Amino acid sequence: MTGRVLSVASECVPFVKTGGLADVVGALPGALAGAGWDMRVLIPAYRSLRGLTAGMDEVWFEPGLFGGAGRVFSGRVDGIDLLLLDAPHLFDRDGGLYNGPWGDWWDNPQRFAALSWMAARLAREGVAGWRPDILHAHDWQAGLAPAYLAYHGAEGVRSVLTVHNIAFQGWAPASLLGELRLPAEQYYPGGLEYYGGLSSLKAGLVTADWITTVSPNYAAELMRPEFGMGLQGVIAARAARVSGILNGIDTAIWSPEAEAVPYSAKAMAGKATARAALCTEFDLSVPGPLAIVVSRLTDQKGIDLLPPSIPGFVEAGGGLIVLGSGDPALEGAMRGLAQAHTGRVAVQIGYDEALSHRLFSGADAVLVPSRFEPCGLTQMYGLRYGTLPVVSATGGLIDTVIGATPATLAAGVATGVVFQPTDAMALQQALARLVALYADKKLWARMQKNAMAHPVGWQTSASAYAALYEGLRP
Ligand code: ADP
Ligand code: GLC
Repeated sequence: MTGRVLSVASECVPFVKTGGLADVVGALPGALAGAGWDMRVLIPAYRSLRGLTAGMDEVWFEPGLFGGAGRVFSGRVDGIDLLLLDAPHLFDRDGGLYNGPWGDWWDNPQRFAALSWMAARLAREGVAGWRPDILHAHDWQAGLAPAYLAYHGAEGVRSVLTVHNIAFQGWAPASLLGELRLPAEQYYPGGLEYYGGLSSLKAGLVTADWITTVSPNYAAELMRPEFGMGLQGVIAARAARVSGILNGIDTAIWSPEAEAVPYSAKAMAGKATARAALCTEFDLSVPGPLAIVVSRLTDQKGIDLLPPSIPGFVEAGGGLIVLGSGDPALEGAMRGLAQAHTGRVAVQIGYDEALSHRLFSGADAVLVPSRFEPCGLTQMYGLRYGTLPVVSATGGLIDTVIGATPATLAAGVATGVVFQPTDAMALQQALARLVALYADKKLWARMQKNAMAHPVGWQTSASAYAALYEGLRP
C-alpha cells in the first residue's frame, strides 16, 4: 500500500444512509484500495449499529467526550475497515441521525464535535498500530476534524475536507466555542466566526489542507453567491486549494446485467421485459416514454416543478413513477399527481432500494430537475441502465450528462436531455423533447448506447483522490 487515510463521516453504506454521502463514503475504501491507499472509515455507532460492536475489537477509551465516555471499536465489516465510535450519551437514541421528533437534535454541535474530536485524536496518535497520513473529513458533521488537527496539533497528518452539500453548514451559537474545544483567539471573521455564530463546515473550510467537492462544475459554482450559500467568499479565498472530483457509482451493485431481468447494451431485450413488468406492477399503460424520479422530496431536488410540467407530458403520451420521501407538502403534491393521472402516474412514498433497481431497469428516462446538485447519483444510474437522464443544467449533472442538441446528435454523442433555467417551463420543454426523441426509435437506441458506454465507475476519480493524497503527503 502507498499510504493510509482515515475517512470520517456521519453515514456509510451499507451501515447507515440518508443520501448519496453514504454511497460515496462506502465506495471510497474499495476504490482507493485499487489505487494503493489503505482507507479506514470512522462513523458513529448509532442505535442501529451498536450490535456490530460485539464482533469488533475495542481499541480506544475516551473518558471525557462531550458529556460522557466514548469507545472506539475496530474491525472489518462487510468489506470495510470500520471504526465505530460508541458514545451512548450522544448516539444511542431512537429517531433520525440528525433529528428527533421535534426537529434537529439539540446537541448536534456536541455530537458531531465528538465524532470530529475522535477522528483528530486517532489520526494524530494512531490506533492499534495504524496511523494515517491523511485525515479525510466529509461535510459539516466532520468539519471540526481538520480544525482540531490545526488547533491542537496535526503531528504531520494532512487533512482534506470534502463538501457534498453546502446547504448543511453545522451552525452553532458562539457561546459554545469553549465547550466545543475551539480556541477563542480564532474567533474572528477570517477564522471561526460565521455570521455571529459558529459553523463546523466553515471551521473545516478555513483549516483543511485541501478542500474538494464532488464535481468540477460544483467546485466553480461554490465560489458564486447563488450556490455558495454564504460560504462563497471563504471558498474563493482558498481557490488554490479547492478541486472538484466527480463521484462514481458502484458498478457492481448498479449493473443491468445483474438485475432480475438482465440486459446489456448488446442485448437490450430484457429492458423491454422489465418495462412491461413495471407497468404491470404499478398498473400503468404508457405509450410514450416512462420516466421515473428516485429522490429525496425536497426543494433542492426541484420536485415542485413536477405538478405544473407533468400534465402536458402525460397528454403527449408520457408516464411517471415517483419513489421518494421528504417534505410532507411535496409528498402530498406527488400523491395528487398520481390521483389526477391514474394509469399514467404512480407514486410510492418511502425508501425502497429494491424498487429503485426495478425502476432503473424498466424505465425509459430518469428526471433530475434539481435547483442545485453537487454531484447527483441517480443520473449516473440512469446512464448505466440506458434510462436516459433529463437534468437541469447545474452542478455535477452537467459534468455527467451530454444533452441532446442538434450538434451533439449530429456528432452522435448525446446521452440525455439538459435544460435551463431550472423552472417548470424549461422542464416542460425538456419533456416535450424527450417525447420527440423517444418517438425516433433509431435515435433513441443510439442515445441509450452512448449512455451505457459512458464511464460512471470510480476508476478515474479514485486515481484523482490518490494523486491528491500523494501530493499532500509530507
Ligand atoms: P442526495 O444525496 O442529495 O440525496 P444523490 O443523488 O447523491 O442525492 O443520492 C441519493 C441516493 O439515495 C441515491 O443512491 C438514490 O438512489 C437514493 N435514494 C433516494 N431516495 C430514495 C428512495 N426513496 N428509495 C430508494 N433509494 C433512494
Ligand atoms: C450530496 C449531494 C449530492 C451528491 C452526494 C454525494 O448529498 O446532494 O449531489 O451526489 O452528496 O456526494
